[in-house]
Amino acid sequence: MTEILTGKEGIERAAELIRKGEVVVFPTETVYGLGANAFDKNAVRKIFEVKGRPMDNPLIVHIADIAQIDKLACEVTLQARKVMQAFMPGPITVIVKKSDAIPDEVCAGLKTVGIRFPSHAVAQEFIWACGVPVAAPSANTSTKISPTTAEHVYEDLKGKVEIILQGGSCQVGIESTILDMSTDIPTILRPGAITEEMLAEVLGEVKTFSGKIVVAKAPGMKYKHYAPDCDMVVAENVQHAIEAYRQSASRGENPVVLAKTDYIAEMKKTLDVNAIDLGASDEEVMHNVFAAMHTAQDKYGFIVCQDFGDKGVAKSVMNRVNKASGGNRV
Ligand code: TXA
Ligand code: MG
Repeated sequence: MTEILTGKEGIERAAELIRKGEVVVFPTETVYGLGANAFDKNAVRKIFEVKGRPMDNPLIVHIADIAQIDKLACEVTLQARKVMQAFMPGPITVIVKKSDAIPDEVCAGLKTVGIRFPSHAVAQEFIWACGVPVAAPSANTSTKISPTTAEHVYEDLKGKVEIILQGGSCQVGIESTILDMSTDIPTILRPGAITEEMLAEVLGEVKTFSGKIVVAKAPGMKYKHYAPDCDMVVAENVQHAIEAYRQSASRGENPVVLAKTDYIAEMKKTLDVNAIDLGASDEEVMHNVFAAMHTAQDKYGFIVCQDFGDKGVAKSVMNRVNKASGGNRV
């Protein structure tokens, strides 16, 4: 049976399960995570089983205190410290050289580990109560959309986990920025709420990984990700969105538009479309985008999504949207 729990008592029960070597779902400010004791390889294996995740895709290790880093990393450069100081706790994962204390199962045999200190109060209390760092990927079945509410997790993983800690709707709404600090030049492997511009202010030089993946750098990058159960296209502009919507409707697919408030208003001047309003700002879009994909796949048969551009966090949103749509554009 799967329970959604709140409050101190829930956190205590969840932490006890972690100490016993079980898995637990907990909220963070980015998305919900499926956690296990990062020092217990048998517990970590259960994460891969529940998610159906390939074993060569490493996990992020979550902490609730900067001092925990010394147990996880064998080397933390001055630059890495600077980034941690500037953005932790917050929606960033920093990759550094790992210590021997972390079993190979966590890092898929890599010599590095991704460390994340979430800012969500429930996440911090939970990790603190566990007394150990918590290895956790997003709490979704592999290839499905990441969960941003406890209810999304319940729908996907009910019967497979005992406890889901309730933390409300995740404020950020997309997964953390992953920054590799184990290379000569700091490299963003996955864009997120902490943008390249923000990191450059602290680090000077930083680049975003954009090469073709032969041997995967962030192994997760080579897998299909974030796919809703229905097809999805990204529209070049309002006119293209209207055309794509019309064609889908004529195929009888029950389409829906995912877009900003003004974009939807613009479309409605021409056509009375079903739409999920993602908000007015890029931050609102980031907060709402995964939740909207969840709703869309439950209630509709085809998604027409706005192109949000490449400025600031919109670029990070488009990274997820492009994966969800498989690169389909009209
Ligand atoms: O916001 C987040 O980061 C959420 C919450 C739960 O903290 N977690 C999350 O985990 O998104 P996951 O497993 O869904 O994505 C982690 C990504 C994967 O693509 C993985 O390949 C990459 O991080 N990764 C983890 N450790 C790595 C390492 N040592 N080197 C390179 N990539 C790594
Ligand atoms: Mg994930």
